Amino acid sequence: MRLILAPMEGLADVYLRRLITAQGGFDRVVSEFVRVVDQRLPERVFYTVCPELLEGGRTRSGTPVRVQLLGNHLEAMAANAQRAIELGSDGLDLNFGCPSKTVNRSQGGAILLREPETLYRVVRSVRRALPEGVTLSAKMRLGFEDTGLMFENAAAIEAGGADELTVHARTKVQGYAPPAHWHELGRLNEQLNIPLIANGDIWTVDDYQRCCAITGTTDVMLGRGAIRTPDLARRIRKPDHTALPWSEYRVLLAGFWSEVRAQMPDRYCAGRLKQWVNHLRQAHTEAEAFWHRIRTERNVAALDRLLLDLD
Ligand SMILES: Cc1cc2nc3c(=O)[nH]c(=O)nc-3n(C[C@H](O)[C@H](O)[C@H](O)COP(=O)(O)O)c2cc1C
Repeated sequence: MRLILAPMEGLADVYLRRLITAQGGFDRVVSEFVRVVDQRLPERVFYTVCPELLEGGRTRSGTPVRVQLLGNHLEAMAANAQRAIELGSDGLDLNFGCPSKTVNRSQGGAILLREPETLYRVVRSVRRALPEGVTLSAKMRLGFEDTGLMFENAAAIEAGGADELTVHARTKVQGYAPPAHWHELGRLNEQLNIPLIANGDIWTVDDYQRCCAITGTTDVMLGRGAIRTPDLARRIRKPDHTALPWSEYRVLLAGFWSEVRAQMPDRYCAGRLKQWVNHLRQAHTEAEAFWHRIRTERNVAALDRLLLDLD
């Protein structure tokens, strides 16, 4: 069993990665993506996206962090992959799933799922640039418009030299709309000779168990489920563990807020808090009540007070 915290740009930032991995149960984290165009990027870009590189490539609780690159320029991808490893990334991940229009317009992310040959070239170029023994992983969706090239894409990534493949069980066009198509992952898993990591809509321990039964793997990547329920990985490992009580969430929220307040400009703080509480309220009635109290508040001092009064 391997449990990996998903890359989530603008959501699973260093603060939430730290907070979630501190709950335990995770084997690894994948960073938000580093966008590669045609240049070797300066170190500061890597440190901005993945500040854990300044702390030994691990979150404070010791979970290894892997840098994710997004792009299609063969030389630049190779050069930046090398740099990520030099800076302490625990292996290297390639993004072939991002649905963003801006990214797709410049031939990055999910758009490459229309071109298995390009996937192969990118993976091979990065593989050749990496020192031996460094794990190379890739993350894709089931396809762009449909699943027609699903097997070709997975085979291309494997042939290019990836060691493992995470698949988000939706096409680009399906976006994030439920359901996640776990049975397609099961079909892919039968074909692949490298480990498949299943991803998409694992919100509960029960979802994890059903996903494993359908896909035939026990390795999964948890995304929004871990944002809503930071102890999800720990509970998957020990299903009889009691869930975090709301009193603990209050402590987590207060800790998160003080980190955000200390590190971010005031104008971004409220949005950051609301984004997380908006996820939490999908699973916790107390968070729903808190959400209604903070929803229209932008003033950080007022939010300081609301957090102090949180019940
Ligand atoms: C806000 C947000 C940002 C995301 N950013 C990335 C990213 O940077 N790289 C990536 O490979 N996937 C990204 N994803 C996709 C997730 O890693 C994951 O595949 C998806 O959320 C499905 O898993 P889940 O149902 O467990 O959340 C993002 C998803 C969300 C919701």
